[in-house]
Amino acid sequence: MDRGHKELMALINRLADGMENNEQKESCSNMLGQFVERIGRHFLAEEEMMDRHHYPKTMEHKALHASMLEDVLAFKRAYDTGGNAESVTLLVILDSWLKRDMLDADKELAKFVATIG
Ligand SMILES: [Fe+2]
Ligand SMILES: [Fe+2]
Repeated sequence: MDRGHKELMALINRLADGMENNEQKESCSNMLGQFVERIGRHFLAEEEMMDRHHYPKTMEHKALHASMLEDVLAFKRAYDTGGNAESVTLLVILDSWLKRDMLDADKELAKFVATIG
């Protein structure tokens, strides 16, 4: 789980660099698409784990995933249609939000799985 998070964060950092340095929009958009795909897979894997272990906070955690995914998709849409400058700001918000919420919720899940495991 932690390795997955590190990979996602690395991808977001690379994306932020690319956007800051005004790299080709197409390549940033590709990275963003990759991020969407990876984060979707990551969430799915966690959700399977929650279901398997009858995690008591499954609904809550799934709702968090859904709203994060929605935000990421909204960001992608905004980036693909809009300018660059705002995207960088949005990305910073997205990044800190993902870090805080994702890690907090997942820490709880990991703890639960460890105690029953
Ligand atoms: Fe996670
Ligand atoms: Fe999660």
